[in-house]
Amino acid sequence: MAKKILEVRNLRTYFHTFKGTVKAVDDVSFDINEGEILGVVGESGGGKSVTGFSVIRLIEEPGKIETGEIIYNGENLMKKSENQMNKVRGKDISMIFQDPMTSLNPVYTIGKQIEEVLLLHEKDLTKSQRKQKCIELLKSVGISNPESRMKSYPHQFSGGMRQRVVIATALAASPKLIIADEPTTALDVTIQAQILKLMQNLVEEHGCALMLITHDLAVISEIADRINVMYCGKIIETGNTKDIIKEYKHPYTEGLINSIPDLDKDKKKLESISGIVPNMFDLPEGCNFSPRCRYCKQICKEEEPELQQVGQSHYIACHFPLKGGEK
Ligand SMILES: Nc1ncnc2c1ncn2[C@@H]1O[C@H](COP(=O)(O)OP(=O)(O)OP(=O)(O)O)[C@@H](O)[C@H]1O
Ligand SMILES: [Mg+2]
Repeated sequence: MAKKILEVRNLRTYFHTFKGTVKAVDDVSFDINEGEILGVVGESGGGKSVTGFSVIRLIEEPGKIETGEIIYNGENLMKKSENQMNKVRGKDISMIFQDPMTSLNPVYTIGKQIEEVLLLHEKDLTKSQRKQKCIELLKSVGISNPESRMKSYPHQFSGGMRQRVVIATALAASPKLIIADEPTTALDVTIQAQILKLMQNLVEEHGCALMLITHDLAVISEIADRINVMYCGKIIETGNTKDIIKEYKHPYTEGLINSIPDLDKDKKKLESISGIVPNMFDLPEGCNFSPRCRYCKQICKEEEPELQQVGQSHYIACHFPLKGGEK
């Protein structure tokens, strides 16, 4: 059986604002195996980013991880001090964000920024070994003439090239897990596909796991092994990519699938999910999706559905699961 690199158990991350409490992540549990790509999808506000930040405990006031266990490589990160967490971040688990400019420092050269990571986490390397590693990393993410490009500043790169540099930086300390939050959203569609393919190849080569957060189910269906679908802070469906794309059982997943262009060429028209995501300060009674669900029945407005197993690793939270992708 594959070894688990991350186990998240009953994670609750709340934001205590003056308007009330937002349960941004509300009792979420999931695993990531070594070398696996886990996709996390859902509409805006579903709690995808907060889940990612919680894993590396980068939640700031007024946010707080209320309860839960985050077990990385057998150790509960919730028990670590801030100092110990700083060693985990970047070294064991690294994070890639949507906008590469926020991750790169405009006043340092690309080479210097990668070297910084190596200085922090790979203390045994000599100066020339660091340079060599830096060249290798830039080469591995498809940057030609790495030796001269190392001396360039971030603004001298295109958006796609900058994101490649960010990926190289994230890989520098050979992490076991990378959390990428919408890593390609700011890029052109053609570049998006290249970068994702690159990430897929790199995780395979380096044997690290990837948690890929995106609102784009089409993107994730291409490269993820498994998918968590999140809605209003909860995982409402999880399974292998095939379970989710072909055998989805939650009406919300159905809505996401129907809004993907091209995936099902027989579909006459593209449908969007009707209604809007509920106000997080005032969630509906029963199932959070009930006000938007076309299959909604009385019980859905009264009782919150529990996550139930419907296949080997396929779970959904719905009172009336669809049958094999269709009602
Ligand atoms: N600093 C904060 N203060 C208050 N509420 C917050 C804060 N950060 C996030 N939230 C709330 O937590 C919920 C989950 O947000 P999160 O950013 O995880 O969503 P997301 O799924 O990543 O959405 P998107 O697709 O837009 O990135 C949202 O309702 C959001 O308003
Ligand atoms: Mg987000």
